[in-house]
Amino acid sequence: MKYPRQLSAGANNAVIAVSKTEVAKLFTGDTRSDIGSEAEKIKFANTINDLVVRFIRLDYSEELQAEMLVMERIRPFDYRAYEIERRELWYDVFVDELTALHQAGFVHRDLKPRRRPGLSDLGGLAFDNILLTEHGLRLIDVGISALKWQVGERIFARYLDVEQTELVQFRDYFLNR
Ligand SMILES: Nc1ncnc2c1ncn2[C@@H]1O[C@H](COP(=O)(O)OP(=O)(O)O)[C@@H](O)[C@H]1O
Ligand SMILES: [Mg+2]
Repeated sequence: MKYPRQLSAGANNAVIAVSKTEVAKLFTGDTRSDIGSEAEKIKFANTINDLVVRFIRLDYSEELQAEMLVMERIRPFDYRAYEIERRELWYDVFVDELTALHQAGFVHRDLKPRRRPGLSDLGGLAFDNILLTEHGLRLIDVGISALKWQVGERIFARYLDVEQTELVQFRDYFLNR
């Protein structure tokens, strides 16, 4: 289903424009993810640095019958609009900021490329939770992110391993596209 002012829809939730500067991720009765824990994870990441999209507020829309996670609106650019040298610098900053989140006990867990229906090669892969802005790379969608003190050392370490692999895959995609 499409909502008025819908921007996009991921695997689980639709995202609508609220204003020029805000969007809302919608959580309805049939959404399995939990808005409260997603809000807490964004807020935690926001205390460390600016890599993850800014949390603004939680709200409820009577009109849409949906809980709304209101956040900063990001307007992504195509990577190919920027020179390779600039992209290399942004990638390095991205790694530094993600590493700072890891050290603080936050792992994103959803960097991985999504296969777009009908496309099979690298051109069909999209890292759709990593958005390029004029200020560099930003992360959205902390839906399945994990906090070390919630999952424990061992599970957190496993998640970190996977994230490192995806980070290398992303480098290839971001610089070679
Ligand atoms: N802060 C934002 N600014 C602009 N677009 C966004 C923002 N957050 C999400 N989106 C868009 O909505 C889509 C779905 O949001 P996401 O949080 O990834 O939900 P899902 O958990 O369903 O994947 C994203 O792929 C992106 O296109
Ligand atoms: Mg997503």
